[in-house]
Amino acid sequence: MRRLWPVADPDPLSDEDIVAAYPTPDGQRLLRVNFVSSVDGAVTLEGRSAPLGGPGDRRVLGLLRVNCDAVLVAAGTVRVEGYSPLRTGEDRQRMRAERGRTPDPVLVLVTRRLGFDPADPRFTLAPQRPVIVTTEGTATRVGGRFAEVADVIGVGTEDVDLAAALDALAERGLVHVLCEGGPHLLGSLIDADLVDEICLTVAPKLVGPGPGRIVAGPPTAVRELSLAHILAAEDELFLRYTRA
Ligand SMILES: NC(=O)c1ccc[n+]([C@@H]2O[C@H](COP(=O)([O-])OP(=O)(O)OC[C@H]3O[C@@H](n4cnc5c(N)ncnc54)[C@H](OP(=O)(O)O)[C@@H]3O)[C@@H](O)[C@H]2O)c1
Repeated sequence: MRRLWPVADPDPLSDEDIVAAYPTPDGQRLLRVNFVSSVDGAVTLEGRSAPLGGPGDRRVLGLLRVNCDAVLVAAGTVRVEGYSPLRTGEDRQRMRAERGRTPDPVLVLVTRRLGFDPADPRFTLAPQRPVIVTTEGTATRVGGRFAEVADVIGVGTEDVDLAAALDALAERGLVHVLCEGGPHLLGSLIDADLVDEICLTVAPKLVGPGPGRIVAGPPTAVRELSLAHILAAEDELFLRYTRA
């Protein structure tokens, strides 16, 4: 992997270099979003994101997890991508420890309906107690079933109030949050103007018509971004944009 912008770098980047290229502000909150898209804008291939990304994408995803307190992910993505408990390898646990972080990030699941089973290994085998973010009504109705395996935060009535959810996470010390999707959650985050940074892997593929984009749901306001870097590995590009 090499740096193309702001300064073209002929030397391959180490894992440490890559983590340093995605900094987190000391003592300040950050919501970083990470997605992969084909060149023609598809967010999935054969219904999932995994076949879109190559080894470079998997490497960046793993290293972004080094530098976060929590991984925020919506129910649809958890179901389709088959999220297993967030368990970090030894090398990356060491990298997390060097940054004063817990060995593994906390999984934060966003759901309106909370149609999950508390006996699901995603909860029971999680190395860090997961957090479920849902509406007040759902938290009252079914939150109690998850009391043994997760913390349940109920905020908002129709939809989860994502600003209040991030406040509640920050109160628990989860200040650097990595959002891994999916498109409906990103739509809500853009609408609420909560996205501080978006990292996009451009996968060297033309998928053709059919799949959705990285964002879905009702229209939102336009948000302006500034380009922070471009990395490249083989034919994949890794774009990092921050709030303008
Ligand atoms: N290319 C990539 O990088 C990437 C990344 C992630 C996902 N994906 C793909 O995206 C697809 C899944 O997308 P999706 O349309 O199902 O979107 P999603 O955003 O992953 O999930 C939608 C579900 O999440 C919950 N949710 C999302 N936003 C919410 C909000 N503001 N308030 C309350 N609940 C909220 C709801 O869960 P309940 O139904 O439980 O109420 C909703 O039905 C999969 O095919 C996956 O492969 C691609």
